[in-house]
Amino acid sequence: MSDLTLLAEKLDAADELAPVRSRFVLGPASDDPADAEGIYLDGNSLGALPAHVPDRVADVVRRQWGELRIRSWDESGWWTAPERIGDRIAPLVGAAPGQIVVGDSTSVNVFKALVAAIRMADDDRDELLVDATTFPTDGYIAESAARLTGRALRAVTPTELPGALTGRTAAVLLNHVDYRTGRLHDLPALTAAIHAGGALAVWDLCHSAGALPVGLDEHGVDLAVGCTYKYLNGGPGSPAYLYVRHELQDRFDSPLPGWNSHADPFGMDPSYAPAPGALRGRVGTPDILSMLALEAALEVWDGVSLAAVRAKSLALTDFFLRCVSEYTEPGRLECVTPERHEERGSQIALRCADAGEIMKRLIARGVVGDFRHPDVLRFGFTPLYVGFRDVERAARVLGEVVA
Ligand SMILES: Cc1ncc(COP(=O)(O)O)c(C=O)c1O
Repeated sequence: MSDLTLLAEKLDAADELAPVRSRFVLGPASDDPADAEGIYLDGNSLGALPAHVPDRVADVVRRQWGELRIRSWDESGWWTAPERIGDRIAPLVGAAPGQIVVGDSTSVNVFKALVAAIRMADDDRDELLVDATTFPTDGYIAESAARLTGRALRAVTPTELPGALTGRTAAVLLNHVDYRTGRLHDLPALTAAIHAGGALAVWDLCHSAGALPVGLDEHGVDLAVGCTYKYLNGGPGSPAYLYVRHELQDRFDSPLPGWNSHADPFGMDPSYAPAPGALRGRVGTPDILSMLALEAALEVWDGVSLAAVRAKSLALTDFFLRCVSEYTEPGRLECVTPERHEERGSQIALRCADAGEIMKRLIARGVVGDFRHPDVLRFGFTPLYVGFRDVERAARVLGEVVA
């Protein structure tokens, strides 16, 4: 056994989160290259299935829908699911209850958050800033939100941001972790800079929620959105969420004021009156099957400390980098994820010209990461179910594949 294999075993043995892996549908950590489950390093795209979710979804379908039918809106708690599940996500992003609703996609929530933020700002603030390195959907939606509200849109990198704010800036949309490089941006400092400039801070938490502490309330974030199918393991297309800070909720003027956000939804009033609180972020009838699959999936967090998750995430990514440098000829792969812990999310991105082909070969060997155009290999490390032996083996296979 190599030194790194021995070290991986030791690290697994000392890992307080190791027992959480059995809550997921994944094989036991194994060194067998023929292992059918392989090594899953793509939880930053689609989280693995929590083992108890299929039975819970079957109950929702067979009993709640099949037997109780319409009664389930009330008796099975369907109607209140968006805010109830929002409160379940809240501690994972550092929010007190009553500030998050679940529903729609991240893209739709970006739209709600941006238009609402612009409507909260003074009229003479006629520009919207967007993260120039953002996941594309946020940029497309920001462009449309700016056009609809008659604001100018300016793209700036998070590093340029403090100097780019002006008295005309209404709101700024930033990604907490860069989807391509895995770079973690300084949410407390950037939020403070945005506030010092008199603007509102809107954060996209897709690549941070469930991977590291976010501290929305602590850092005074105004609005935030995120998906639930990555580190929150809600399943393919599971609904996203919208956070609106308590103090701003009365001023949250939704651009999509559907009947689910009405103060009296069953009053069927022809004129709109918004519900109080986070409920204003709701739109139409929620997608109950996905939503209740997510609610069940969130139970894997019971008893899990986010501090332990962050510590393990950094240990996993450090160990991966160490193994890659031992197993791969120098210069073959360029790491584009920052070395510094304060700047690292929970993924490692490695650049090489033939990344697309390399990823195909890795997947054929049971190591599942993903490829981002044009030359990035992305590996996501979900601390709830990735172990150190997985990491060592993935780096070893990578070394063989690129050789
Ligand atoms: C940062 C970020 N924002 C938004 C999205 C996608 O949004 P949606 O859930 O609307 O597809 C992703 C998807 O990976 C993402 O990484």
